[in-house]
Amino acid sequence: MTQPLVRFNNLSLSFASDSGRVRAVQDVTFDVMAGQTVGIVGESGCGKSVTALSLMGLLPPQSAHIDGGEILFAGQNLLTLRQSQMANLRGNQLAMIFQEPMSALNPVLTIGEQLVEPLIRHLGDTPKIAWQKATALLTDVGLARAESLMKSYPHQLSGGMLQRVMIAMALSCKPKLLIADEPTTALDVTVQAQILGLLRDQAQRQQMALMLITHDLGVIAQMADHVVVMYAGKVVEQGPVADVLRNPLHPYTQGLIASRPVPGERRRRLYSIPGQVPDLAALPAYCAFNDRCAKATERCRQGIPPLEGQYRQAACFYSGQVPVLQPE
Ligand SMILES: Nc1ncnc2c1ncn2[C@@H]1O[C@H](COP(=O)(O)OP(=O)(O)O)[C@@H](O)[C@H]1O
Ligand SMILES: [Mg+2]
Repeated sequence: MTQPLVRFNNLSLSFASDSGRVRAVQDVTFDVMAGQTVGIVGESGCGKSVTALSLMGLLPPQSAHIDGGEILFAGQNLLTLRQSQMANLRGNQLAMIFQEPMSALNPVLTIGEQLVEPLIRHLGDTPKIAWQKATALLTDVGLARAESLMKSYPHQLSGGMLQRVMIAMALSCKPKLLIADEPTTALDVTVQAQILGLLRDQAQRQQMALMLITHDLGVIAQMADHVVVMYAGKVVEQGPVADVLRNPLHPYTQGLIASRPVPGERRRRLYSIPGQVPDLAALPAYCAFNDRCAKATERCRQGIPPLEGQYRQAACFYSGQVPVLQPE
């Protein structure tokens, strides 16, 4: 079997807080194959961003603690690398874009200055070559008048343009993996579709794997090959997108799908999953979705359902026989 590009292997991590340890990620296991798009979906606070930041080596060192597990990148455990080795991988083999592009850019440097820096540092380009490449990259991500944009400052650009700049910057060193954390959440709807289209085209063109984090199942349906559903710091379901969306096994996934607005379909009232995400500093010793779940029974309060299955996985006592099929 081919080795995955990324393997999260039983990753657990927590934050120290006044109310105790916040168990932000527990036993998270999933793979990203080379060139594949994996969508990570779940409500706010379920551990999507910290999972991504752990891979990038960008967790706050003062408060975050890795409790166990590995993050293998091309077979190498990133958690054992030194800061300098991680810095080398970032922006080179690994890149990440964020919800707020403005916060990731330096307001006092021009777009050009910020784009050429990694090219010079990681690829050893001369300043002149780097400038030419950066200008071409801006054109590549669909920005007009790239020469003048190179000399602009971030505040002179719209949110959509800035996100294109971030994508150009992320792609500049041809990473093997791009993590996009809610890349379109802060953008206008019309711009959202353009940015997603751009990400998909570029991922295809560069044979790049994409880890796409979103709370929007519509985005997953449109973009991803494989989906990982997270709830309260854990993977509760995963599998090929078409299978999971057509036949969700976990009541949480079923709830997410039911609460999705369907274009063209008018409903009197949109369904929403009742209740709230549990406090990650005080998780129960049983299924964390139990008190929001319409299907919960006594059994659901007697233990934590393990994530079972191979090709399709779900962590629910009642998800039935999880089919152990082989992908086509
Ligand atoms: N720097 C931090 N310090 C303390 N707790 C944090 C920190 N970052 C995230 N958390 C906690 O970890 C949990 C998961 O957060 P996050 O991964 O950001 O969620 P999301 O799925 O919305 O991206 C949340 O409960 C959040 O409060
Ligand atoms: Mg987040």
